[in-house]
Amino acid sequence: MATMESLIGLVNRIQRACTVLGDHGGEGMSLWEALPSVAVVGGQSSGKSSVLESVVGRDFLPRGSGIVTRRPLVLQLHKTDKGTEYAEFLHAPKRKFTDFAAVRKEIADETDRITGKTKQISNVPIHLSIYSPNVVNLTLIDLPGLTKVAVEGQPESIVEDIENMVRSYVEKPNSIILAISPANQDIATSDAIKLAREVDPSGERTFGVVTKLDLMDKGTNALDVLEGKAYRLQHPWVGIVNRSQADINKNVDMIIARQKEREYFETSPEYGHLAHKMGSEYLAKLLSKHLETVIRQRIPSIIALINKTIDELNAELDRIGRPIAVDSGAQLYTILELCRAFERVFKEHLD
Ligand code: GDP
Ligand code: NA
Ligand code: MG
Repeated sequence: MATMESLIGLVNRIQRACTVLGDHGGEGMSLWEALPSVAVVGGQSSGKSSVLESVVGRDFLPRGSGIVTRRPLVLQLHKTDKGTEYAEFLHAPKRKFTDFAAVRKEIADETDRITGKTKQISNVPIHLSIYSPNVVNLTLIDLPGLTKVAVEGQPESIVEDIENMVRSYVEKPNSIILAISPANQDIATSDAIKLAREVDPSGERTFGVVTKLDLMDKGTNALDVLEGKAYRLQHPWVGIVNRSQADINKNVDMIIARQKEREYFETSPEYGHLAHKMGSEYLAKLLSKHLETVIRQRIPSIIALINKTIDELNAELDRIGRPIAVDSGAQLYTILELCRAFERVFKEHLD
């Protein structure tokens, strides 16, 4: 009997195979769209990239003030049994990155390759896979921050362009929305919650995350929000304390940061009673668990889609004639094999 973990792993591998084949969810319902992924939404500098890094447990994303994330980053985490951690970009498939500082530099360089060293954005995604024994199987998407005004060097349309780009990800029913709101701004006016409410009015696929709890004005706290009283969602709100810019400048590492975050909640007079439901590690577990539930619910419809995909792939293979030595043929075989493996595992789960 396959474990749920291996099932999610298979989902991840199929999504990756679809990506390689160029199935980004064009016409009609594609396999990619049937499978869940987590998109991070929020205002500029609300802490989106920081939250993603904490969920992954590695430092590898460019972060900072102003518009840093300028292209969507589709990040696939693959849990491996053992061995060294490494990362791989779709645009450089032969290069294995073991140095995560180099991953951060490559994201920045690859962003510039399309947009130039400007403050412009592009909706062409960067695809990154991380293979590690220390991650949960997840597909996460980091997105540029929602903003209210164009800054110098940006076209006037940028506010709308970013919103449309973000909406195109979160309006898909397979998208789980990580809505990030900084605690030092009013949640009622949070861009993340505004957009999440628009595309997911029932709140069934929205996870509310409050960052920067450590930066609130003295004498104020976010209890109303964290206890779900200020704005109700179906899932519990999670409070987060990420690294500050000073921490980043001092290269405070992830392990220390998580430890400090835990201590923050455990010793907090306001949030102490919620400590076991707060922080990045808890958020990672919550997301992984939700993903399992969603995949379980979708098993029958995913099997139907896989069958359809297998038929289409077979037809395509017939059309180009077998056997074929070219790369695309090999990829078609790979995805076909994956689909069949997937179907087998899914059927086991139905039994
Ligand atoms: P993004 O633009 O939404 O991706 O935000 P980033 O993750 O790049 O963070 C923007 C800035 O806010 C960085 O300087 C972070 O160090 C800082 N930051 C993010 N979250 C927190 C937090 O919880 N506490 C503190 N003190 N700073 C944070
Ligand atoms: Na930023
Ligand atoms: Mg960012």
